[in-house]
Amino acid sequence: MLVETLAQDSVTEFAIDVRLGLMKKGQKEIPSKYLYDEVGSALFEVITVLPEYGLFRADERLLRENAETMAAMLPRERVVLAELGSGSGRKTSWMLGALATQRPTVYHPIEISQKALDQCCRELGQLHNVDIRPVRQPYLQGLLSVAAARRPDEQLLVLFLGSTIGNFSWCAGERFLKQVRQALTAGDALLLSADLEKPLLQLLPAYDDPLGVTASFNLNVLARMNRELDADFDLSAFRHLARYDAAERRIEMHLVSVRAQSVAIPRARCSVSFAEGETIWTESSHKYRPGEVIEIGRRAGFRPLRQWLDSEWTFAQTLFVAE
Ligand code: AVI
Repeated sequence: MLVETLAQDSVTEFAIDVRLGLMKKGQKEIPSKYLYDEVGSALFEVITVLPEYGLFRADERLLRENAETMAAMLPRERVVLAELGSGSGRKTSWMLGALATQRPTVYHPIEISQKALDQCCRELGQLHNVDIRPVRQPYLQGLLSVAAARRPDEQLLVLFLGSTIGNFSWCAGERFLKQVRQALTAGDALLLSADLEKPLLQLLPAYDDPLGVTASFNLNVLARMNRELDADFDLSAFRHLARYDAAERRIEMHLVSVRAQSVAIPRARCSVSFAEGETIWTESSHKYRPGEVIEIGRRAGFRPLRQWLDSEWTFAQTLFVAE
């Protein structure tokens, strides 16, 4: 019953957001969180192993090389690790391994997808000295639950990896970090990953790969509307576009209507007209400068302890402590 209600609620929320985003004046848009249904999440997993998409490997490399140093910088006997978005668990294993050799470690992956949580528990369940306690909630709500349940002698380490911060607008990213800070106690820590600006020749193929995996990942949101909202999108009448806005320093993903057309979306109670060349904006991926990561953390109420830069793909991990 609860599962049914949850599923109903999420379809309703999707329908409302689709209606709002596609019926509004000006640029049509769909929030990027809707890229990640079961199919989209599987396609994203493939993106992470594409040769053109260096972000994931940079993030993992930095953790592999530095997790022990990072763990040693956390002074308390007992550390509780809370990860915003559990991912596949592959990267986190480096941090958990480093923490758990030094002390027993509790790990809370925070994620709304039960499937992702199950996968994470399978991947990391065998680690020695690690107690996995999944939290099926949105990021901030989950973090608040974890913080409320922690013991006073425990230090929280929040992981926000993958450069997901880049998918927020500049302002929303800062707002989000402030909310993370508010959930924490002075002395808790945050490890934040951010993809950095880089030459376009390297950046664009990361979001428009020759195999077309990113294109499928993007187009899947139309297929999802067909599956869940009974829409009649003709996928061949849209194409994937990744473009760089240099002023905003962000990659934008769009779906371009290749002809004038009208699409019915019955469960969102709307019908949407597209002019030829008109786009639906589906995701932004902001590219930081190293100093900006430090500044955004400072403004959110954290003190930077150290920043690590990857040697192969411009990418930063910054360890902060809550002030
Ligand atoms: C999850 N996020 C950090 C990815 C990014 O690079 O912005 C999502 C993605 N979109 C296309 N490729 C990857």
